[in-house]
Amino acid sequence: KLLTISLLSAAVLAGTAQARDYDTVRFGVDVPYEPMEYRLPNGDLTGFDIELGNALCDEIGIDCTWTVQGWDGIIPGLLARKYDAIMSSMTINDQRRKQVLFSDPYFTPPSAWFAPADSQITVPSKQTLEGKTIGVQRGTLQDNYATDMFGDVADINRYSTADDMVLDMDAGRLDIVFLDFPVGKSTLLDSNDGDYKIVGKMISEPKKYFGDGFGIAFRKRDKELAEKFDAALDTLKENGTYDKLYKKYFET
Ligand code: ARG
Repeated sequence: KLLTISLLSAAVLAGTAQARDYDTVRFGVDVPYEPMEYRLPNGDLTGFDIELGNALCDEIGIDCTWTVQGWDGIIPGLLARKYDAIMSSMTINDQRRKQVLFSDPYFTPPSAWFAPADSQITVPSKQTLEGKTIGVQRGTLQDNYATDMFGDVADINRYSTADDMVLDMDAGRLDIVFLDFPVGKSTLLDSNDGDYKIVGKMISEPKKYFGDGFGIAFRKRDKELAEKFDAALDTLKENGTYDKLYKKYFET
């Protein structure tokens, strides 16, 4: 009996015991990552992830709040209970599945390479990137891919925020950047007058890097909570809410 009790409390301490009920879900998010998550001039958070996350919570009937967290500490923050879920354009992949539980994918954009419009680089390869400086956000799948593929021939500059990377690109310190396509489109193509071009898009292969689309990440014990979000996502896809947000952020 004693043994049972101590095993049980070990399970509780390890966080593997039964799920708890949430009346508020605290989301962790790394900003700015326009148009996915960013601040309006008045300081309010907005973006596709934020609006979709809020709509999902409405649908489930729970409150949600947003906690800003740097990308490279975003999974540790979840595991340390700073918040209850990550909604931050996080790509579902096997490496992360070891640490967290993912919802169904809610968006599946490609990754893309962006270079100055007058760049000689036409396609990213070991030859074209040799001696070049590549910008990535630290700890993203784009960082992992660029490091593994081109780390031996190119310099890789890693930034803690996507915005710092874009600033360095604008300052002429980078030859090329690699990031989620909608974010590069919004921050480099749409907000500049033809200064940049796309030199390559990567959809889903190799899977090890490019994974299975963006998902909401939960602690592994929160299976019930994840299932509620999956069901709510299905509803928002059926009732037109998802399409409305998609059009608002990606078809403008
Ligand atoms: N989708 C990429 C990844 O999962 C980058 C996401 C970065 N998100 C952010 N909010 N900064 O690695």
